[in-house]
This record gives sequence, structure tokens and C-alpha cells, in this order.
Amino acid sequence: MASKGETDLSGDFGPQIEEIIQHGFASVMIAMGYDLGLFDVMAELSEPKSSEEIAAAAGMKERYIREWLGVMVTAKVVSIDATGNKFFLPANRVPYLTKGVSGMMAHEASFMVNLTKNAFDKVKASFLEAGPPGTSYDDYPGKFELTAKFGEHWMKNHLASSFIPLFPELKTQLESGIKVIDLGCGMGVSTCALAKAFPKSTIHGVDFVDINFQGAKKQAKEESLKNCKFSAGDISNLPDDWSGHFQYAFMNNVFHDLAHPMTCLAEIKRILGPGGLLSIIDCHGYSAIKDNIDRVPAAVNLYSASLLACLPLSLGAGGVGLGAMCGVEKIKEVVTSAGFEMLQSGVAPECRSYKHYFHCKVA
Ligand SMILES: C[S@@+](CC[C@H](N)C(=O)[O-])C[C@H]1O[C@@H](n2cnc3c(N)ncnc32)[C@H](O)[C@@H]1O
Repeated sequence: MASKGETDLSGDFGPQIEEIIQHGFASVMIAMGYDLGLFDVMAELSEPKSSEEIAAAAGMKERYIREWLGVMVTAKVVSIDATGNKFFLPANRVPYLTKGVSGMMAHEASFMVNLTKNAFDKVKASFLEAGPPGTSYDDYPGKFELTAKFGEHWMKNHLASSFIPLFPELKTQLESGIKVIDLGCGMGVSTCALAKAFPKSTIHGVDFVDINFQGAKKQAKEESLKNCKFSAGDISNLPDDWSGHFQYAFMNNVFHDLAHPMTCLAEIKRILGPGGLLSIIDCHGYSAIKDNIDRVPAAVNLYSASLLACLPLSLGAGGVGLGAMCGVEKIKEVVTSAGFEMLQSGVAPECRSYKHYFHCKVA
């Protein structure tokens, strides 16, 4: 019997698989245009232009631009005018394809190409019984910058103004000044956003990948933030003298990556002390595959990113391999069994249903 969401088990699958694969090719070429800044160039042009004019505006070779336009026009991403020789990017598509704006769907395509180009063969080998257990962070050059960019808009525009107000008790504490730890802070985007919004609080970003730690410091300096600091460290083994030191722990897009989540949660509990608050933001999905069909719009993207990075990274470190789509039920089970009381949970605001939050208290 077909599962829900599947419509046709006996007809010709040809057109359907052809469409799926065509979309895959189009995504790769969207990533190329995004990385090269071609959508930004086209968004600046006031009227339809020839491939020569677009190439001149981009400062690139016309022959390559023309071939790329071929993909974009036939994929119905870029439009062509009545002359058949001039191309334009309709205004309704600009926010989804250009850099630095809210939608950034093209950034997601670029992220996926980056993960694929770096880790495809090693992940493939990891499937095999005789293959490696997984990957390591060294296998993903550029991943941390791309991850930070992916979350930047939400962190800068919604973390302090839409997310924190969901928890009035926490907001009051942050406004009057508390010690906060941002676990797995990556490039420090969330650390800086919290520091900027709550100047009386001190925000400490921790990450175990050194390149992230450097990036985080650079960002804080650029934004002249005096109330945030960073240190390299492993969440599963935090300094002894941090016991009871923090009142709030924040963790974005890290939980499912943890090799040893129970050990990490025990450490978080220790450094928070009784009554301490923890917010985990992770991918929105459900633990059983069947529950994600037609219900989680980003399921294909998130399972794919998980398979290329999150899962093999955790397994490669000898971890439990939660995976990015471990789901709401699994996260609740792990967090509560580690001794946290679940206060509130739901889809995070303003995030196209990509993020799910879990707000908890040390029980
Ligand atoms: C997907 S990235 C998210 C980074 C950042 N929070 C953000 O939203 O951009 C996951 C981060 O968790 C860090 N991480 C994973 N396990 C860790 C551990 N045990 N200790 C410290 N950092 C860890 C990784 O180095 C990586 O920077």
C-alpha cells in the first residue's frame, strides 16, 4: 500500500524522476550563479539585456554567461523578453536569489554544492561495511562560513526581537544582566546578536573548531562589542571552574551534530546549576520518516545536508549519529532524560518552518 503523499505506484515514473533530476541540475547552476554574483548583477539591470551586456556588467566571459543563461531560462528562473535575445530577472525572484537578503534559497543551493564537492566520496565510502565510520571537520573547508551566512539574517533580525520575547522571564533576566553561554557558536553570529541586544549581559561563545573561534572574535571586534568573549572548548568537557557559572545556555543548530549528546547535556546542567535555562534551536522535523512526508517543507534539503555532513561528522567522531532530522520527539526524549524540564517547544518564528525550539529548565 502506498504511504501518504505517494500518488502513483503503477504508472510511468519517467516524467516524475526526470523532473526531480532536472531540478537537481538547476539547483547546481543556481548555486554557480549565486556564488559568482550573477543574480546580483542581473537584479541591478534596469531592463532586459543581451548575454554580451550581462557579461560586460559582470566582468565575465560571454560564452559562459550565455550557457548559464540557457540553464536559467529553461529552468524558468531567469526570463527572456519578446525579442528572444534579452534576459531579465523578474522582481519577484530577486529576494530568493541575491546575496544578503531574507529568503536566500540560492544560498542553500550553494551550501549543498559545497558539502557535496567536499564530502561526497568520503560519505559514499562510509556507507560500506569496510568503509570509514564517517567524516571529520577537516573534510569541509568553507562549511562554517556558509553555515554562519545561512543563519545570519535570522540571528540579526529575529533572535532578540522575535525569539527571546517568547520567554518573558528570560527576557527580563537578559535585560538586567546575566551570564550566557552560546554553545557551538561557530562564527559567533548568535553570540554577537545577543551581546548587541542585551548589553548588560555577558555572552560567552564556545566552539571546538578553531577556525570558528577566530571568526567569532573578528566579528565581535568589527561590531565593537565589549560584552562578548569566545573560547575554544568541547561542550562534552567544559572547564571544572564553570560549575553553576551561567544562568542561560543557548545552542543553535548544534544539538543534532553532537557526538555525545548525553555527556554534553550533563555538562550544560553542571555549568548552569539549579533553575538555569537552556534554549536549543534545531532543525524542524519529526523522528519517523513517515511523519515528514508533505508535512515538513524542508525535509529533502535537511535529510540531504544531514547525510552529507551532520550524520557522518557525528559518526566519524565515534558518536551516536543523531542526524539533522532526528526530530522533535527524539530531542525531547534526550533532553528530558538528561534532567531538564521542557518548558516550551514549537516552530521558531520567522524561519520558513526550518527551525524548532526547545526551551528548558534544569529540573
Ligand atoms: C552547524 S554548526 C552551527 C554553528 C552556529 N551555532 C550557527 O548557528 O551558525 C555546528 C557547530 O557546533 C560545533 N560543535 C559541534 N560539536 C561540538 C562540541 N562537542 N563542542 C563544541 N562545539 C561543537 C561545530 O564546530 C560547529 O561550529
